[in-house]
Amino acid sequence: MAEPVRDRWAAWLLERRHGGDPEDLKATMEFLTPVRDRVLKNAALTGGETLLDIGAGGGLIAFGALELVGEEGRVIFSDISQDLLDHSRSLAREMGVLDRCEFVRASADDLSALEDASVDAVTTRSVLIYVKDKRRAFEEFHRVLKPGGRLSIFEPINRFNSPNHPSDGSIFMGYDAEPIQDLARSVWAVYERRQPPDEDPMLDFDERHLFDCAEEAGFEEIYLYYEARRAPNAAVAAGWGWAHRWEILLKSSSNPRAPTLEEAMAEALTQEEAERFTAHLRPLVERNENTARHAVAYLRALR
Ligand SMILES: C[S@@+](CC[C@H](N)C(=O)[O-])C[C@H]1O[C@@H](n2cnc3c(N)ncnc32)[C@H](O)[C@@H]1O
Repeated sequence: MAEPVRDRWAAWLLERRHGGDPEDLKATMEFLTPVRDRVLKNAALTGGETLLDIGAGGGLIAFGALELVGEEGRVIFSDISQDLLDHSRSLAREMGVLDRCEFVRASADDLSALEDASVDAVTTRSVLIYVKDKRRAFEEFHRVLKPGGRLSIFEPINRFNSPNHPSDGSIFMGYDAEPIQDLARSVWAVYERRQPPDEDPMLDFDERHLFDCAEEAGFEEIYLYYEARRAPNAAVAAGWGWAHRWEILLKSSSNPRAPTLEEAMAEALTQEEAERFTAHLRPLVERNENTARHAVAYLRALR
């Protein structure tokens, strides 16, 4: 790692998402690379253009865009995390592309650091799920785009996943938990206390809401591509390699606000209960015996 990890966004993206395991990071990247390519394709960048990547994180989309905008183009990395902006700046320096990159600390719903009609394209991947005021964010995307500019978004639709972890604990992360239902219910309650299903910005929207926000913000053309499935090992099939090994599952969390499984167990269970919980769940995790729902949306729009 180039520099010490400090804020929770950086800690999650650079460490906790993959339980600190390099192989799992690789598996995550195998899932993310085609997503990145599709987000960039939908942004339809050409040489010399300026792209604003909102919630740029570790620069997945933004660094990928540099080649497309070419030597004359520019990429603006924006994020609320100063640590992640600093991380990307160091990488850009190492890569010798610093002169084509800008770094702006801003929230998706307040881009006042950027002028009206100043960019050719806006991209954002897995960021709106953390933003409470999504309508305002779309208004901001519309405002900073030039007329004819393109918006390209990817978001997981986590509301669709609720049958993977019902509050009664009968299923836990898509695994059959009936024999330990009481324990699974207590552990899941830790996750729900941290991210109340009715209020959390990760769960208070779906793909239609994204479409409506784009329409209300004034985008002329809007295209939504929704993908949903219920399948065995959906998490693994989607490339989230962490699901296949217990130790990594224990140490990873699904988003920056979520506890790791280890933390949730420590909060909810006694030592004896944790052993019972582990004795049931661990073999299922190691054998990948889960069936889970998973949905994502790609949206592209023209100003
Ligand atoms: C899941 S990461 C995605 C990072 C990157 N877009 C990618 O594709 O890898 C979410 C990012 O959104 C940023 N973020 C969270 N809330 C935000 C907000 N309100 N405005 C802008 N960025 C935000 C986080 O700091 C983090 O970098």
